[in-house]
Amino acid sequence: MPKRPSSLETAAPLIPESPTLDKLREAAAGCRACPLWKTGTQTVFGEQEGRPRPGPRVMFVGEQPGDQEDKAGKPFVGPSGRLLNEALEVVGIDRRQVYVTNTVKHFKWEETQGKKRIHAKPSYGEIRACKPWLEAEIRVFRPDVIVCLGATAAQALLGKDFRVTKQRGRPLHSEYAPVVVATVHPSSILRAPKEEDRKAALRAFIEDLRVVAEVLNGLRAGEGASAHL
Ligand code: URA
Ligand code: SF4
Repeated sequence: MPKRPSSLETAAPLIPESPTLDKLREAAAGCRACPLWKTGTQTVFGEQEGRPRPGPRVMFVGEQPGDQEDKAGKPFVGPSGRLLNEALEVVGIDRRQVYVTNTVKHFKWEETQGKKRIHAKPSYGEIRACKPWLEAEIRVFRPDVIVCLGATAAQALLGKDFRVTKQRGRPLHSEYAPVVVATVHPSSILRAPKEEDRKAALRAFIEDLRVVAEVLNGLRAGEGASAHL
């Protein structure tokens, strides 16, 4: 019988039964469902900083680990992560309440002249192969709110026709969470060539995160109210 082409393979058979986040992380460490395991140093799984806290849960989904994340084995520890942390602080979202992860769990890169390891966009097949990990993380963490950072995450969770430029900063409903908000990827802000463009992009990003903060505050107030019933 002909071998199934690898483009049809996904991580689905690797998802453990009754998964916890720790079990998922362990299983994902050995994933070879797409060719990116060869490019990346290690699987960079999602995580929540510190101990889980009571209150509404929010999950941020990026594209894929970058150079620093690939080396550290932790998501959003490089320049994009620093910018995200700053923006979260501005809008008053407690970083310890946040689970951060990526659509694709291995770093994809290209060597270019002089500069090494330049980020390369994951293909549709790689995103599809890796999606069972993200779906399992969502099932286990059960976020009240998911924030898609950039088009890769938004299209993976909201459909390929989703346009961040048109639909950013709006609370949407999805099968994955009661509220999903899409915004740009922090790296797009850092890449803006002119200082004034960077500033404007950062302001717009913060406005989108303010929407997320308001949703979270609303949920918190709702929880408080139901506790008094
Ligand atoms: N960009 C991402 O999308 N994810 C990371 O973890 C780091 C940079
Ligand atoms: Fe597996 Fe995802 Fe890594 Fe591909 S990118 S090998 S699907 S963990």
